[in-house]
Amino acid sequence: MSLPKTALVFLIAAFSYFLISSPPKPHYYHTLFLSSSFSDNTSIALNLRTLTRRPHIAGSLANAEAAAHVLSAFTSSSSIKPHVVTYKVSLTYPVHRSLSLTTPKESSSKSISFSLEQERIGDNPYAEEVTPTFHGYAKSDNTTQTVYESWIESSNSGEIGRLGSGASDYASFVQHVGVPAVDMVFGGGYPVYHSMYDDFTWMEKFGDPMFQRHVAIASVLGLVALRLADDEFLPFNYISYASELKKSAEDLEKLGHGIDVSPLIKSIQDLSTSAQGINIKKERVKGALRVRELNDRLMMAERALTDRDGLSERTWYKHLVYGPSKYDDYGSKSFPGVDDAIDNAKRVKTKASWEHVQHEIWRVSRAIRHASLFLKGELR
Ligand SMILES: *[C@@H]1O[C@H](CO)[C@@H](O)[C@H](O)[C@H]1NC(C)=O
Ligand SMILES: *[C@@H]1O[C@H](CO)[C@@H](O)[C@H](O)[C@H]1NC(C)=O
Repeated sequence: MSLPKTALVFLIAAFSYFLISSPPKPHYYHTLFLSSSFSDNTSIALNLRTLTRRPHIAGSLANAEAAAHVLSAFTSSSSIKPHVVTYKVSLTYPVHRSLSLTTPKESSSKSISFSLEQERIGDNPYAEEVTPTFHGYAKSDNTTQTVYESWIESSNSGEIGRLGSGASDYASFVQHVGVPAVDMVFGGGYPVYHSMYDDFTWMEKFGDPMFQRHVAIASVLGLVALRLADDEFLPFNYISYASELKKSAEDLEKLGHGIDVSPLIKSIQDLSTSAQGINIKKERVKGALRVRELNDRLMMAERALTDRDGLSERTWYKHLVYGPSKYDDYGSKSFPGVDDAIDNAKRVKTKASWEHVQHEIWRVSRAIRHASLFLKGELR
């Protein structure tokens, strides 16, 4: 009698082992990022220390080492199976840096040169490396506030800004190929940004001394990544996209010079209607293939806002709705092509230049109509 009992215990044990070791439900991963304690600040600080010990620009040996560190961190938490993908790319980097200040011609032709040295901290064997460390993302700690409260307070609005700058990490995604992107950071500009003092030591002493902002942003980014990966439907809402576009289009209505903004307004109204349509459809759609098809539409709508020819004179920028305008690379404008054309028309003041503004308005209207067609499933 004792044998079957043992077998049963074994079976139960095996079954519970199976339950424990089978991949946890998405909910489990979400809870990982919802911890209200800041106990993780130590491991975040340790990882930041390891990852910023030396410059690790893409393609360098240090970058490969950083990737190996990230891989080992994921591998040790057994339920996630990561892998590294290697790309062959051509990148050019400076091997030397120097700074020289030239005094204005009239006073003297002598130039003053000096070099910048980074203070050696502890036993850092990499202090001599040419490229400065540049990793710092957070601000001072304040644990009494949620991220949301802190954001509302600092932005004074609670509205998400536009991705405008052409010099940022997301530029190739949004502005060149039309992949929806988001830029989330703590703090605005800070004085050491992109300087050689923007390193772990600065972060530990001044930026985020308790590493609690790091914990907070890790929670937010982690949850956003999980939602993008796991939600049945991509969390994209084109209704708010359309209402933002409407505001920008209305600004154009006061232009005068015979400019007709109505095609643009009409295309934006259509976008809003299509966005409402797809939101209603989400409630009813069943079955993996149908869900996939709907997600493809949500994804392709943003791509539809790009144009193969790009902005005139700046053809790398393919997105006709969001992009930097020609004279303000760090600003963020809607309809950069229209904006450039207006700038030009205001300078040259010819009939043809104002006709070009109208032409740009038609181009944007067409792109927005394409986005509507994708949302409606009439274009693939
Ligand atoms: C943290 O934020 C709260 C709410 O704004 C404020 O009252 C408090 O003084 C702040 N604490 C620190 C240390 O900045
Ligand atoms: C983590 O935060 C606690 C306070 O909550 C602080 O005492 C500790 O020094 C922090 N750890 C690091 C590595 O900053």
